[in-house]
Amino acid sequence: MAEILAVGEAMEPALVLLEGGDVVAIPTETVYGLAGDATNGIGVARIFEAKGRPRFNPLIAHVADMAMAQRIASFDPLSKKLALAFWPGPLTLVLPQRPGNGIHPLVTAGLDTIALRMPRGFGGDLIARLGRPLAAPSANSSGKISATTAQAVAADLGARIKLVVDGGATPVGLESTIVKAEGERLRLLRPGGIAAGEIEAAIGIDLLRGGAAGVEAPGMLASHYAPGAAVRLNARAIVEGEALLGFGDQRAEGWRGATAFLNLSVSGDLREAASNLFAYMQDLDRSGARTIAVEPIPFDGLGEAINDRLSRAAAPRDNAQPST
Ligand code: TXA
Ligand code: MG
Repeated sequence: MAEILAVGEAMEPALVLLEGGDVVAIPTETVYGLAGDATNGIGVARIFEAKGRPRFNPLIAHVADMAMAQRIASFDPLSKKLALAFWPGPLTLVLPQRPGNGIHPLVTAGLDTIALRMPRGFGGDLIARLGRPLAAPSANSSGKISATTAQAVAADLGARIKLVVDGGATPVGLESTIVKAEGERLRLLRPGGIAAGEIEAAIGIDLLRGGAAGVEAPGMLASHYAPGAAVRLNARAIVEGEALLGFGDQRAEGWRGATAFLNLSVSGDLREAASNLFAYMQDLDRSGARTIAVEPIPFDGLGEAINDRLSRAAAPRDNAQPST
């Protein structure tokens, strides 16, 4: 069962867990977050595992200050203005990632954009002490509503995590507002803790709303990672010209003939496989293979989310859904 520690005594234990690639539930001003080191693939995989998420939705990366934010993403002028006006606070900005920023691809589900937010209070202090951003979705199991007290987190996730940091009831009580720059305009992707009107007043123009072409509905992104290569699942034998994405120690027939080969996890560890998934798909795609064949991956635990992502990557391409 998770230990519940008050913010005053939780800093060191939380740092030890995060340094070790584990997760910690933390209070933020919006809702409790289930945090892991955003640069550590195993830590990020553990977030999905603890939540029991059947899909790898992209997560928000939380930063301590503007310098950390600008190492991770490039800011257009409007987004910069909003960050200066509302950070720290319940506003999340979706921005283009800077190459080589160290963010693990599982945080962004392989997207080249990233959702960034600077939280108030304990979360901000913890990130500053760690010196690295924290990936944190709301601290609830998949399909349940977001938790706003440490007791609610413990009741839901207590059997699957080691520490809940108790900062009392979260003041805002609903998730952050998410916006994304689109040219000279900003689009509201998710209403939340800062009213749209407040944002509009700060930038002097109305927010775009609704689903214009190519805009993802939060939580049900169509903009999943789609490689250039075709993807073939449950491959038990290799066809000429295919690259192979392996899993475990049983190889597909003819695997030595694959144009490229990477193994998600030699030992068959689904957490390790999840942490390698997006990077390996990208590597095999860059190898120039026409098709990436994927060995069978079990559906238990994180396997469900891994198979979900792979089947989206394997689905026939719909050109009306650009991959942002
Ligand atoms: O208040 C909050 O935002 C809380 C606290 C813990 O910070 N976090 C939170 O995270 O609500 P989560 O994972 O439950 O929601 C993240 C949302 C999802 O709707 C996801 O689709 C969207 O952010 N998102 C993340 N990255 C994105 C991206 N690159 N482009 C568009 N949407 C993105
Ligand atoms: Mg959530």
